[in-house]
Amino acid sequence: MTWEPLEGQTVEFGDCRELLKQLEPGSVDLIYTDPPYRIKAHLEEGDSTFGVSSNEAYKYGVRVNKKGEPSVKTYGEGGAFVPYDEWLKPSVKALGNSGYLVVWETPKALGYLIPALIDAGLEIVQSIVWHVPNRQSFWQGQAKGKHDIAILCKIPGTKPPKGSGPIDCIRHASLQPVLGNDEGSSGVPGAKPIAVVESWVKWLCPEGGLVVDPFLGSGTTLLAAWMNNIRGVGFEIEEERKDVISQRLKSGQTKLAGLGAWC
Ligand SMILES: C[S@@+](CC[C@H](N)C(=O)[O-])C[C@H]1O[C@@H](n2cnc3c(N)ncnc32)[C@H](O)[C@@H]1O
Repeated sequence: MTWEPLEGQTVEFGDCRELLKQLEPGSVDLIYTDPPYRIKAHLEEGDSTFGVSSNEAYKYGVRVNKKGEPSVKTYGEGGAFVPYDEWLKPSVKALGNSGYLVVWETPKALGYLIPALIDAGLEIVQSIVWHVPNRQSFWQGQAKGKHDIAILCKIPGTKPPKGSGPIDCIRHASLQPVLGNDEGSSGVPGAKPIAVVESWVKWLCPEGGLVVDPFLGSGTTLLAAWMNNIRGVGFEIEEERKDVISQRLKSGQTKLAGLGAWC
C-alpha cells in the first residue's frame, strides 16, 4: 500500500528487501537508514544477559541455544535483524553510479557491518558518533553505552557533496520514551531526533533529489526530506506504525510553524 503523508513523501508498507528491488536503478541519491538493532533476537532468546549474545547471534541475527549455536531465525519480523546483504545489495543498485548511504548501528555490530558494506561495493568515507546523554539502557554484563555510530559510505567515484555535514560527536538527547499509541502498543525503538537526521539529509541529497529509508520507523527521514524540498520514500514492515508516522510528521510541521510540538 502506497501512502503520501506529506507532499513529496511516500511510505510503502512491506518488506524493504522486496520493495528496494522495485526502485529504478540509479534513481536514488541517498539511502539513509537505521536498521533494527536485533532487539527481538535477544528478547526471544529469553536470555537473562539481555544484550550480551554470542558472536553468531550478532552476525546472523538469529536466536541461539544455550550452547551458543544458531537456532530459530527471527529476521523478517519488525524489530528483528535483517541480514545486511539482503538490503544493502538492492540499495546499491538503486543508487547506481553515484550516491551516498548512511547507516546507523550499535558499536558492537560494526565488525560485521563494515565488511558487508565493502562487500556490497560501497566505499567507506567516515564514521560519526552521536553522543546520547539520556540513554537509559544499562545491560547486564556491559558498561553503560552512551553513543551510537553512523557509517557514511558512497558509491566509488561519487563527487564530494557541497557544503559541510554534521560535526562529529553530535550531542542530542534521544527520544525516550518513543511515541506509542493510546492502546499502549510500544513505540518505535531507536527513533532519531530530527536534529540528528536533518543535517545529513540536506548535505548528501540535492534539493529535488530522492532519499530512501528502507527501515522508516517513525518517519524521521521523511520529515527531514520534506523540510529541505527533497523527495522521500520510506519502507516499513509494520503497518501499525502508520499512526506514529502520521503523528510524528504532524508534530514536526507544527514545530516548524513555531508551536513547539515534539519533534
Ligand atoms: C530502528 S527502527 C528505525 C527508526 C527510525 N530511524 C526513526 O527515526 O524512527 C527500525 C524499523 O525498521 C522496521 N523494519 C524491520 N524489518 C523491516 C523490513 N524487513 N522491511 C522494512 N522495515 C523493517 C521496524 O519495524 C522498525 O520500525
